[in-house]
Amino acid sequence: MRVLVVGGGGREHALCWALKRDTPDAALFAAPGNPGTAQLGTNLDIPATALDDLVRAAEQRDIDYTIVGPEAPLAAGLADRLRAAGHAVFGPSQAAARIESSKAFAKDVMRQARIPTAASRTFTALDPALSYIKRHAEPLVVKASGLAGGKGAVVCATRDEAARVVHAMLAQGAFGDAGREVVVEDFLEGEELSVLALTDGEQLVVLPAAQDHKRLGEGDTGPNTGGMGAYCPVGIATESLLEAVRRRVLEPALQELAARGAPYQGVLYAGIMLAPDGIPYVLEFNCRFGDPETQALLPVIPGVTAQLRDIALETWRPRETLLSASRAAVATVLAAPGYPDKPRLGAAVVVPRDLESGTLVFHAGTSRDPDGTLRVAGGRVLTVTGLGDTVAAAREQSTRGCELIGFEGKTYRSDIAWRQISRTAERAGAP
Ligand code: AMP
Ligand code: GLY
Repeated sequence: MRVLVVGGGGREHALCWALKRDTPDAALFAAPGNPGTAQLGTNLDIPATALDDLVRAAEQRDIDYTIVGPEAPLAAGLADRLRAAGHAVFGPSQAAARIESSKAFAKDVMRQARIPTAASRTFTALDPALSYIKRHAEPLVVKASGLAGGKGAVVCATRDEAARVVHAMLAQGAFGDAGREVVVEDFLEGEELSVLALTDGEQLVVLPAAQDHKRLGEGDTGPNTGGMGAYCPVGIATESLLEAVRRRVLEPALQELAARGAPYQGVLYAGIMLAPDGIPYVLEFNCRFGDPETQALLPVIPGVTAQLRDIALETWRPRETLLSASRAAVATVLAAPGYPDKPRLGAAVVVPRDLESGTLVFHAGTSRDPDGTLRVAGGRVLTVTGLGDTVAAAREQSTRGCELIGFEGKTYRSDIAWRQISRTAERAGAP
């Protein structure tokens, strides 16, 4: 098999790693890839959004199927382009990817399909948005409708703050076109979960739930980021909760998309707020694997890439409806100093060769000099995944790996999975 992975982050390195684990003979190509994917296959010097070049590469390299990692090429129609040229692909069409690329569309789908989600209104004009905010309870949430790299959702403590954010988006072009339409919604309390499912549009296989940590600082403080770490499995995501997410969220979303002429194929990611009453409310949908969730999930689901292949090749006959994690995994992101606002790039990165077995290092924002020196080349530099029999053991392993990797100003959280670990400690009666 010759497989093309589109993207160049930690998620795509983890996808390549899992493809090699599951099918050691596969020939892997990554576009553009990173120094980590270069160790597993061939990097193609093609940006993830250069659709023409990607379709040509699939042709020229005789690719059997393509896995699209990031949302931007999906939203731009890469999967449609590949299919139209006769290539197999894992990832939704442009029309189905709107579930992520337009929050206004996603809200409309959810309303129509009666999927639990925060009450909301969508606006393109400033005055009606401001008068809606004037009557809204505090706190409230303002979201740029379009793709904003995970930074377009602003939780506002006050109506004044919400008014400023809406003004910046609608009147001042903050977030560019992505902010020309905004969604204003109720603030929801609860605990967040990332629930991902593989689907060919009809059948649905739910992966173990993961929990992301979006804030920069320990104890969930500081600014929002693309994600500082994730782990699985998550104790509160019981089989019955995942079944509820399937029944109340995932299946209705697929049916509604199909009814709108946009059948969904790929991985559907539901960002869930589990409310105190046990109802799983949807905060957002993503049309792709999560980053860093993927770096925690794929290592503990052996064989999972065969399912991606079969979905792409339209030969998928899943045996289970729910996959479980073979072990626990904690993925900690090592970020550049100054991340997320102004990451400082260029520092040399040293990854010891003899990290413990059960420690996986996935590259994201790295580059390699001609002399082999690895350097910081992006905000999120590496993800270090620790595996263990328990989440606590996996976190120790991940944190030890982070301590041993060296670069100036490295920034990471050593408390990933704190909720799970404190819950387990409570149950064990520890002080
Ligand atoms: P989103 O991009 O929509 O997932 O939002 C990013 C982050 O903002 C989420 O992971 C939550 O932490 C927070 N958030 C979004 N919507 C809400 C909401 N309605 N209530 C509370 N927090 C929210
Ligand atoms: N980890 C959040 C995301 O991938 O959108």
